[in-house]
Amino acid sequence: MKEFEVFHSLEELDQESRYLVHKAKEATEHSYSPYSKFQVGAAIMLEDGTFVSGANQENASYPLCMCAERVALYALASQFPNKAITKIAVVAHKKNHKELTPAAPCGACRQVMLEFEQRQGKPMEIIYMAEANEWVNNKSAASMLPFSFKKDNVI
Ligand code: THU
Repeated sequence: MKEFEVFHSLEELDQESRYLVHKAKEATEHSYSPYSKFQVGAAIMLEDGTFVSGANQENASYPLCMCAERVALYALASQFPNKAITKIAVVAHKKNHKELTPAAPCGACRQVMLEFEQRQGKPMEIIYMAEANEWVNNKSAASMLPFSFKKDNVI
């Protein structure tokens, strides 16, 4: 199986993925990003169709800023601990700009997604705009972080 697919417009994505992108965009409204002015939203779909979303939350003490993906992942782990993730969409736009701008999940979020994937024992898809109008669907978190540090390394 291919590790990822690339699409040249949002319209090329399947309906469910487009809907998830739409939910991620909605989530950016709850971004608290007065420092970076970069609003990120993540929407996660669980195996039973439940959605959980998150937006980046910043702090005057800059290193405490939390990415949208991890806000959403940790919220879902607390509310729906036994439901597997099927898909995550991540989008971003600059403050006061409606148009989406490219934003791939950062390395820290990839690491966290990987452990969620390992825990659930099933792959999750991750959708984001990698370059201007170039949408990527990674077929697993593992494919986004090769040669990774994993929980088996420490247990
Ligand atoms: N950010 C995310 O929310 N997700 C990422 O994967 C990368 C960066 C946020 C963190 C910070 O609030 C802002 O984007 C600028 O780095």
